[in-house]
Amino acid sequence: MTELDCQDYKIIFGSCQKNLSTFLSENAYTLICVLVDENTHKFCFPKISEALSDYQHMVIEISSGEDFKNLETCQEIYSQMLEGGADRQTLMVNLGGGVIGDMGGFCASTYMRGIDFIQIPTTLLSQVDSSVGGKLGVDFEMVKNIVGVFNNPERVLIDPELLKTLDTHQVRSGFAEMIKHGLIADEQLYEDLFSMHFGLEPKKITTDIVYRAIQVKKRVVEKDPFEKNLRKILNFGHTLGHAIETESWHLEKPLLHGEAIIVGMICENYIAYLKGLLTNEIMERINQQLKHVFYRDDVVGNAQEIISHMKKDKKNQNKRIFAALIDGVGSAIPATEISEEEVLQSLSYYKNM
Ligand SMILES: NC(=O)c1ccc[n+]([C@@H]2O[C@H](COP(=O)([O-])OP(=O)(O)OC[C@H]3O[C@@H](n4cnc5c(N)ncnc54)[C@H](O)[C@@H]3O)[C@@H](O)[C@H]2O)c1
Ligand SMILES: [Zn+2]
Repeated sequence: MTELDCQDYKIIFGSCQKNLSTFLSENAYTLICVLVDENTHKFCFPKISEALSDYQHMVIEISSGEDFKNLETCQEIYSQMLEGGADRQTLMVNLGGGVIGDMGGFCASTYMRGIDFIQIPTTLLSQVDSSVGGKLGVDFEMVKNIVGVFNNPERVLIDPELLKTLDTHQVRSGFAEMIKHGLIADEQLYEDLFSMHFGLEPKKITTDIVYRAIQVKKRVVEKDPFEKNLRKILNFGHTLGHAIETESWHLEKPLLHGEAIIVGMICENYIAYLKGLLTNEIMERINQQLKHVFYRDDVVGNAQEIISHMKKDKKNQNKRIFAALIDGVGSAIPATEISEEEVLQSLSYYKNM
């Protein structure tokens, strides 16, 4: 069994049924609350239900999607926990993608001032990114992840079997964060992701590549858990990406998080080129590879709105905009100020690339 030891918890790879079962047998919880959405209830819950059969448990189902990652849904979760008799010795199991993980972890961290929780990420994005690093929270008034806490789970259980029911859009969204991890800190991971030609099919995603992508995040987070400096490199692609994602909520077909991050990485690479951090040749090579993974020119149309979203981003200070930029494949600079003019130029580059 493969494991990654984090400072106060473990990431365990393999059958989530087996690993949950082992964890439950080693601990004494009064009740297990499993948080799911309608999709993970249907596709993933059957893959852990046997592990729960000997224990008192309840399932809380919420509606899927970012639209429901808010305080109203948290109230619904707290209500059901209260009704179900959840106490301090209750364990929360978050079985789902990043929305379930971030919101369920936030509810577990605040219910009775904090109960234990386990993350069982069921999307590629949540496996390689959101389930590791302790950031939990919800969106508020159109601002993503603006209400939240830092807290770690008891365990993160990574099971590649869970990914089999994802569609290619969801796989691509996770692939984007893996590319990001390669670009900021692991050149070999980046090259391997592109040479594997895995065609974004869930069955081609190996435990090895997921492990390596998680390792990048773990290494960075351990050096800077509260995002004082180095951890900011994980925001690569996100200063523009988050704003483009938020703006896309007005479109008929909003972007998935990872899709927006691909657009964000392309634009931020162009800004790195404008600042002399990347040569034109390297910037173009990376950007053409990224464009091949995802491209949609209708998502950068409303430049002023995108800039306005960026100014509200909690990563920025006094309305000045900062971004993590790369200065080569596998090497990043945590926070560089970028100008509105550079942002506008990068959006126009994207539209015409
Ligand atoms: N905490 C962090 O550090 C961090 C990092 C990155 C992203 N995030 C957050 O993660 C969220 C995005 O996560 P996501 O992309 O996993 O989205 P998600 O949780 O909305 O899941 C995407 C969709 O896939 C469905 N789904 C999940 N697992 C499935 C499975 N195995 N089979 C079939 N369908 C399945 C879900 O029901 C949902 O419809 C965003 O809210 C983002 O802010 C957090
Ligand atoms: Zn992200």
